[in-house]
Amino acid sequence: MGQRFILGEEVWLFEAAAAEACRVPYGVGCASGTDALWLAMTAAEIGPGDAVLTTPFSFFATVSSILRVGAQPMLADIDPRTYNLDAGSIAATLRDRNQSCGNTQLRAILPVHLYGQCVDWDAFTALKKEFGVLLIEDAAQAFGAQWKGQPAGNLGDMAAFSFYPTKNLSAYGDAGLLTTGHERFAERAGILRVHGMRQRYFHEEVGWNSRLDTIQAAVLLVKLQHIDRWNRERRERAKTYDDLFAQRGLAENGPYPQHGVVLPYVDPRGTHVFHQYVIRAPRRDALKVFLAQQGIGSEIYYPLPLHLQPSLRNLGYADGAFPESERAAKEVLALPMFPELTQPEQERVVTAIAEFLS
Ligand SMILES: Cc1ncc(COP(=O)(O)O)c(C=O)c1O
Repeated sequence: MGQRFILGEEVWLFEAAAAEACRVPYGVGCASGTDALWLAMTAAEIGPGDAVLTTPFSFFATVSSILRVGAQPMLADIDPRTYNLDAGSIAATLRDRNQSCGNTQLRAILPVHLYGQCVDWDAFTALKKEFGVLLIEDAAQAFGAQWKGQPAGNLGDMAAFSFYPTKNLSAYGDAGLLTTGHERFAERAGILRVHGMRQRYFHEEVGWNSRLDTIQAAVLLVKLQHIDRWNRERRERAKTYDDLFAQRGLAENGPYPQHGVVLPYVDPRGTHVFHQYVIRAPRRDALKVFLAQQGIGSEIYYPLPLHLQPSLRNLGYADGAFPESERAAKEVLALPMFPELTQPEQERVVTAIAEFLS
């Protein structure tokens, strides 16, 4: 690695390699997944007067990036099995124009491939046709996931990836990537991330600093060579959890838990990468405490849907507006999941949950 610590050679190499992995012509590295979302919307000239529809059951940046470009976030509920945005709920919201985005124009739908599983892309393609909008994938949790053999990052008009250290493809700090098949979006994002300059110190427009560090790109270039294997190992670990829960008679069909746990639903049309392995459990909060007492880490993604966050109350959605998201927030629990997880470790996790539920 040379002395170009920012946007050095490894950045270009990583952009090209990641774009190839996603089977898209363009990849634009940037400082974070949040910035990749922001760059995508700005590159498409989404701003004040526009609306972008997304999910309330995601990480905060999914909605905050819409506000950051000056657009209006619109929300629709999730599918209780996959936790992904439900296309039926979107269509109902959009057909009922009165309760839709007021005077704003809907420019894009921003689905999140939550936990590493692609949204039902067939349904989203139909929405794009019906409503004439852009589709921007929030693929922060889904590097390597596929829909009918097509990789995340190549499905929409643009996609945003995060390489935050907990992600399935992760850097040693913050890093992100925008992918697209549209040259004009790639070109615009490429200059917006460096203060709107193509030629040094000549600013065509007002961008900002979202440059990718060379050292992060170098780390990502190495890890990219292993991501397919790591994703496969995650799927194997998921299968082991499924089997262990089933063997103990704890696996329920769902979508809501009764006495046992609801295992992750995998849409057979896609390829899940299990960024997270998320169950639904009764008395979820007590279970989390019980596991922690046994030295087993677990996490809740996410405990409070976005429309109920104090900072987003002014979006105007009431309690009860998105019942599936609100229920999921009370029931989901992510269990330990990483490629190096061993079978005895997984048995310990499942045994502890069995003990809790007995
Ligand atoms: C669904 C989703 N969107 C956006 C982001 C934002 O990515 P970053 O933390 O790299 O800004 C994340 C991850 O943190 C995420 O999980």
